[in-house]
Amino acid sequence: MRKKLIAGNWKMNLGPASAVGLLKDLNQALENQSVSSEVVVCPPYVSLHQSVSALQNSPVSVGAQNVHYEASGAYTGEISPQMLKEAGCSYVIVGHSERREYFSEDDELVARKVKSALNEGLNVILCVGETLEQRKSGDQERVVTEQLRAVTDQLDADLAARLVIAYEPVWAIGTGETATPEQAQEMHAHIRSRIASSLGEELSTSIRILYGGSMKPANADDLLGQPDVDGGLIGGASLDAGSFVKIVEIAEKITSS
Ligand code: PGA
Repeated sequence: MRKKLIAGNWKMNLGPASAVGLLKDLNQALENQSVSSEVVVCPPYVSLHQSVSALQNSPVSVGAQNVHYEASGAYTGEISPQMLKEAGCSYVIVGHSERREYFSEDDELVARKVKSALNEGLNVILCVGETLEQRKSGDQERVVTEQLRAVTDQLDADLAARLVIAYEPVWAIGTGETATPEQAQEMHAHIRSRIASSLGEELSTSIRILYGGSMKPANADDLLGQPDVDGGLIGGASLDAGSFVKIVEIAEKITSS
């Protein structure tokens, strides 16, 4: 059985002081619960250090939101996988649609980043997803297949053991609109079948596929209850400790039922 993963993508929110404030609330809320899901928060770079410290005795892990593919060198403004490891990160999000859209990250760049981060021992959350136009024209599976293929072509099953996929339909991110549980399940099953043909049956049954796009306590139950939905990548609702914890509790309830 795949362990559920609930990850918070804070985006460009919460500097060091506010990060510590939210994590204090998160720690308190999770203190007396036995959590079987994996819980991860992804603060902005400048808040990573304080977040790792604030979570020292907590089951919650820390991830970054982006990474460069080189180990070091003259890349002004960039952060390497090695640096993230040293800072205490175990996860990194790669290929988020906001990076693809606003920072011109294409499939080739995303693939380089994923491979480099996996090689360094980080767990990678690779985001894929179609735009509204692409869905309206019925192109969603082709788009997601292409985004996946660009990355899986560069990997073998061993390296991909630390890969997590997040299906994030662009039209559902930050819009309050979510994919229906049926739409999510359909795409997640498609992604799993693509992984089976590119990286093998065994990996396809163990790889976790998260849903992302306006997930909140009110819809988490239906989405996380789908057979191929192994967790969530949560933006807006992860900025409120109470909402984020509620989603973790919903994941726990589903796992134990
Ligand atoms: P949202 O963001 O939950 O605010 O829609 C999800 C994401 O972009 O990862």
